[in-house]
Amino acid sequence: MADNDLMSKLMSLCKRRGFIFQSSEIYGGIGGFWDYGPLGVELKRNLKDAWWRDMVSGHDDTTTPQGAPSTYEMVGLDCSIIMHPQVWKVSGHYDLFHDMLVDCRTCKARFRADHLKSGECPKKPSKRPGEHTECDLTDPREFNLMFKTHVGALFDLASEAFLRPETAQGIFVNFKNVLDTSRVKLPFGIAQIGKSFRNEITPRYYTFRSREFEQMEIEFFCRPDESRHWYTYWRDRRFAWYTSLGLKSEKLRLRDHDAAELSHYSCGTADVEYAFPFLQEGDFGELEGVAHRGDFDLRSHMEGKLVRSGDGFAVELDAEGKPRHPGSGKDLRYFDDQTRERFVPHVIEPSAGADRGTLAFLCEAYTEDQAPDEKGQPQERVVMKFHPRLAPIKAAVFPLVKRDGMPDIGQDIYRELKRRWNVAYDEGGSIGRRYRRQDESGTPFCITVDSQTLADQTVTVRDRDTLEQVRVAMKELSSFLSEKLETP
Ligand code: GAP
Repeated sequence: MADNDLMSKLMSLCKRRGFIFQSSEIYGGIGGFWDYGPLGVELKRNLKDAWWRDMVSGHDDTTTPQGAPSTYEMVGLDCSIIMHPQVWKVSGHYDLFHDMLVDCRTCKARFRADHLKSGECPKKPSKRPGEHTECDLTDPREFNLMFKTHVGALFDLASEAFLRPETAQGIFVNFKNVLDTSRVKLPFGIAQIGKSFRNEITPRYYTFRSREFEQMEIEFFCRPDESRHWYTYWRDRRFAWYTSLGLKSEKLRLRDHDAAELSHYSCGTADVEYAFPFLQEGDFGELEGVAHRGDFDLRSHMEGKLVRSGDGFAVELDAEGKPRHPGSGKDLRYFDDQTRERFVPHVIEPSAGADRGTLAFLCEAYTEDQAPDEKGQPQERVVMKFHPRLAPIKAAVFPLVKRDGMPDIGQDIYRELKRRWNVAYDEGGSIGRRYRRQDESGTPFCITVDSQTLADQTVTVRDRDTLEQVRVAMKELSSFLSEKLETP
């Protein structure tokens, strides 16, 4: 059974506290598009920053990380969303990036053909599409998932362009630019975070399957004979990253694709999956795919769109024997100045969704427990137990009462801490209500200025999870928080 009760409580908290809103809500919303509110934008930004820091800027080029075959370099990129249309023809997205859809002629609803067994008939939700006497389903038809647009003033075939359905292609077409400008040597990775768009037939499960979403992708280039080792390294590394930020290992799994599931380019893929509460018990949803893409992408952009041929790939030809979708013709091979070889590197691609990651961390954080009220009586509370690195607000400062100079001291502390972290100041309502608000926001520490502060310049610091309260000297607050928030 899916835990729909937990999901509806989480979605209502996300709305109430400003994590996630429906896009264009005042006009009734638009399916498959979501907005992040003041807390949600911080949470998602913290997730992306943690990824960038751990995978890119904080990566040490000079030492071999645990489990890696050798040292490696990492650089970043930020590519345009609309690219030359030939990119998508060559990559295979133009011909192959589609779902099969089925329409109902009676109620005009549209379903993914592979979701008919789990879908609902809009006229009678207890029935599956096709089971109700009035259902009149069409045969499955192909539907390309890329959003189309036009570049320039004319709306003709020549001006047709696409919103990128993945950030990866921007990296491949810039491979030579990066090689020529940053002097990286194999093995190395190029990372990118950015929006992608897919016209999903049935967007669903909140932000899980949206039409506009963000990806965090690495294309890791290596020698073909080392690619298997790197594939294993990235599989394990990316799985461990989620647990390091607080996803419990029993809700996470690493699943290898079987041959039938592999994408058209992939010769090995494993997914990092999470047991989302909206799924049936025992089911998992994909957070990230780690794919061994071989030399498929760089070769395609050199030679033209590739299709399977025997054990490998060959350029797809048209009736006249010419490449159906010609590549750039540019030489994207790597020259190894030690071995004097020139070859097309192989690619390992860890491709994560920032929105799916954010949703998993929201689901994991949602906790119902009890905390004592002002009279020491246990009260039900909802608390978002985010890892400190992900928490949208790191600390909140409260003056116990609005007199005796407590608000001024509170504001001084707030301003001091604000220089380093996202910190809140709140003097409204009882202290209990203020704690509840911060618990629902997932703030790890609440700092209270009280009458003892006036006597000895100490404040109480309450820990969100243990509810333990300790007194800390005001002048040591910054180092106290830094140790708690920044120690891995
Ligand atoms: N470049 C490879 C690629 O794009 P993918 O498995 O199609 O692979 C990678 O997408 C990740 O992007 C997924 O694991 C998921 O986290 C995210 N993603 C894909 N489609 C999505 C959608 N419709 N809504 C939200 N996230 C999505």
